[in-house]
Amino acid sequence: MSNGTKAVLNYGDGKSIEFPVMKGTVGPDVVDIRTLYGKTGMFTYDPGFLSTASCQSRITYIDGDKGELLYRGYPIEQLAAHCDFLETCYLLLKGELPTPAQKAAFVDTVTKHTMVNEQMQFFMRGFRRDAHPMAVLTGLVGAMSAFYHDALDINDPHDREISAMRLIAKMPTLVAMSYKYSLGQPYIYPKNDLSYTANFVRMMFGTPCEEYKINDTVVRALDRIFILHADHEQNASTSTVRLCGSSGTNPFAAVAAGVACLWGPAHGGANEACLNMLQQLQQQGGVSKLGEFVAKVKDPNSGARLMGFGHRVYKNYDPRAKLMRETCYEVLGELGLEDDPLFKLAMALEKVALEDDYFVKRKLYPNVDYYSGIVQKALGIPVAMFTGIFSLARTVGWIAQWQEMITDPEYKIGRPRQLFSGATSRNVMPIDKRK
Ligand code: ACO
Repeated sequence: MSNGTKAVLNYGDGKSIEFPVMKGTVGPDVVDIRTLYGKTGMFTYDPGFLSTASCQSRITYIDGDKGELLYRGYPIEQLAAHCDFLETCYLLLKGELPTPAQKAAFVDTVTKHTMVNEQMQFFMRGFRRDAHPMAVLTGLVGAMSAFYHDALDINDPHDREISAMRLIAKMPTLVAMSYKYSLGQPYIYPKNDLSYTANFVRMMFGTPCEEYKINDTVVRALDRIFILHADHEQNASTSTVRLCGSSGTNPFAAVAAGVACLWGPAHGGANEACLNMLQQLQQQGGVSKLGEFVAKVKDPNSGARLMGFGHRVYKNYDPRAKLMRETCYEVLGELGLEDDPLFKLAMALEKVALEDDYFVKRKLYPNVDYYSGIVQKALGIPVAMFTGIFSLARTVGWIAQWQEMITDPEYKIGRPRQLFSGATSRNVMPIDKRK
């Protein structure tokens, strides 16, 4: 929607052009530069999309300066307090919170899709047992398009709905299978009288030898992790899903691209990198080495960063980090792990960083990954599985954003431009004449 004003670009020899300024419901206005190239022959240059809105979206809103995160208008704090993960999924996908009847129907549908094709076990066998779970998951999610190709017409709302349900329902089963495979333990089939999250916990930690006893603290904490990671507007992996999906490929292929992107340490891999960093620091002397460690991450030549700190959008405390910190205390308290040395080290490091001029000036605060790794470790989840669990939670966000893109009348294949700075046209020399 135009806000009625124009942005004027003066360029060249006294030339000038006007662009409409668009207004969202909240957040910065955007200059609509779609006609720029046609009218001027120029592109814009914005590596890393620091100032570029790539789409219109109604799903998630972040105010990075205030430290505010809203899913479909609802503050993340209220969703974490009053809703479970599947209600949050419903909200992200459909735009409104479900009524009790809508929730029951949605839970029923998701529950009935939890099993995966038995052939997927054989597909899994091709992987080395010591493969990283994210490598396995990228393959498994991509392979879903080979197992569930009966409903892949992206222009058919019914097919899109079925694929969305399959992804959300089967992701916990696949994540748990990748864990069991790495251990050499039998896969545990889903048990549909359990909740989504309790079912996942049982598939991760149960064995066929005895009935698995569900621990409510563990389920509650994981459900919160899922809610907090469910969507985060146009982050790297979501933009990857959108870009990949913009070619018209199927949603499993697009989500597999998202999983691959999430794996990186600057994105979803940060919780794993953060825990590895804390463990290393612990081995090197823990709190007594904090000063040295902080000096290292501040040194631009060291190449080291304080993992779990800083965010492209949040220039204030990440609201998810606040909630995760709360959960962290609750979990450690209820599991009797308050004196966990790693948690104490994390708290000490957080305090030092928050009071340090380097971090204050650059507005570097803890992000959600700073705590989610500690919580997951306390829950007994191995470090290598952290990003897989993040993928499980983010799947609904990826799918909601993909659906939004497919149904957007302005949707086009994504095709960024470039500022070319390589060699201009030249002739190929025969190999014997090259020096
Ligand atoms: N430790 C030390 N210095 C940092 C850190 C950090 N974690 N993050 C940013 N900085 C510094 C940079 O060196 C730079 O300093 P300079 O101005 O002197 O050159 C300044 O802060 C700005 O940093 P950028 O890299 O330009 O910020 P950007 O917005 O591009 O990066 C990012 C954001 C990638 C998250 C970064 O803060 C980072 O690498 N953090 C650690 C990894 C991490 O925790 N990622 C999780 C993100 S949340 C998520 O994906 C769920």
